[in-house]
Amino acid sequence: MRIDVISIFPEYLEPLRLSLLGKAQREGLLSLNLHNLRDFTHDRHRTVDDTPAGGGAGMVMKPEPWAEAFAHVLAAGRSAGHGEPLVIFPNPAGERFSQARAQELSGHDWLIFACGRYEGIDERVYDYLADSGIAVALLSLGDYVLNGGEVAVLAMTEAIVRLVPGVVGNPESVVEESHSNGLLEYPLYTKPAVWVDPAGTERAVPEVLLGGDHGKVAAWRREQSLERTRQRRPDLLEN
Ligand code: ADE
Repeated sequence: MRIDVISIFPEYLEPLRLSLLGKAQREGLLSLNLHNLRDFTHDRHRTVDDTPAGGGAGMVMKPEPWAEAFAHVLAAGRSAGHGEPLVIFPNPAGERFSQARAQELSGHDWLIFACGRYEGIDERVYDYLADSGIAVALLSLGDYVLNGGEVAVLAMTEAIVRLVPGVVGNPESVVEESHSNGLLEYPLYTKPAVWVDPAGTERAVPEVLLGGDHGKVAAWRREQSLERTRQRRPDLLEN
């Protein structure tokens, strides 16, 4: 999978070089390419924003650097042999990102994330991409406003790439986790079978988990998942 990120703060995305995603890059499962939007400006101040047409607070990202950045990224990806990309704009006004969406996006060969800052990006950038036949999606991390798309890209990229086959060592560990089956995950325990906590209380692992009956363990976990979901996220059960 190839991922390009265009941002005025490409350093913000450097954590994507660490840990599991870093390993995926070293193993050739992921090609991550970070681009500074200011490299596609031509004035002394490397300007990427201007005042909103019609007035109002804040600044709006200018279309010209975005068009140049996309031309550069599209050419780079195509010459590396990729087909058509999906361009994702993280945006609080977009469709809600979810585990199901992460699963779907993990099957794409090429994603381009475009991080807006300030009040947003000139609307003509979206129109231009759509009219050029490029698939575009606006995705929101949740119903709150961040200062820009970078944090959303960190979260979405991690959620997507860990679902690419081969990235997580044990494929079963991405099957039985919260949201993968529409429910929250059951409680987890490890050794010791009885733990004396710092206050002196003995806390035992539920007996069913130590009995070796896989059918009973599965039934208990399912019940715990349902109960947790009922308590914490009843909205998930309605869907
Ligand atoms: N940019 C600003 N807020 C955002 C959000 N909630 N989700 C995605 N991108 C954003």
